[in-house]
Amino acid sequence: MIKIAVFASGGGSNLQALIDAQETGLFRAKIGLVFSNVADAKALERAENHRIESVAITSKGYSGSREDYDQEVLQLCQAKKIDLICLAGYMRILTPALIRPFPWKIMNIHPALLPKFGGEGMYGHHVHEAVIKAKEKESGATVHFVTEGVDAGPIIVQGNVKVFPNDTPQSLAEKVLKVEHLIYPEAVRLFCDGKIKVSDGRVKILP
Ligand code: GRF
Repeated sequence: MIKIAVFASGGGSNLQALIDAQETGLFRAKIGLVFSNVADAKALERAENHRIESVAITSKGYSGSREDYDQEVLQLCQAKKIDLICLAGYMRILTPALIRPFPWKIMNIHPALLPKFGGEGMYGHHVHEAVIKAKEKESGATVHFVTEGVDAGPIIVQGNVKVFPNDTPQSLAEKVLKVEHLIYPEAVRLFCDGKIKVSDGRVKILP
């Protein structure tokens, strides 16, 4: 059975969508760990409510380097025999110390249609503000593999929403979040069914 770790720094609504999908049997995998860099993240509470092991290592004021931090996280994931890491609102950029040992085994969800509106500084409300400012007619969400470039890894699944002239960053965020909750479990299902192949830096979904 594939063992998943979900990393979250905040509310964890995407974590909840993954837990719900697991409970309805959408994918054959077990969320065996919820990890956070924020000790009072609501995501940890959600894990406890579903009797999922949760661990927090506070990143704020952490004494070592970013690599040292990721090394600790790596050891945790290896000790728990994690096969897939799902970043779900995890507000840290991973270092190679964690990325390299998990090739094509770390996914992230981003609240825009990558490669548009991604990269450093493009998170949360910044993304939706930029989409509205650019007068885009469409936005959405992307699940992609994590590589060493921020938001630059191969795209697994995308979902679209329409952007209307009266949308605000808040209203857009709400619409996009609903799509996130559909596509993240779908991406995990594809992974668990062995349907994702990466070649030449692109994802191919097998029939
Ligand atoms: C989502 O919008 C996700 O795309 C982004 O962070 C947000 C997390 O929301 N990476 P939640 O904590 O899952 O509710």
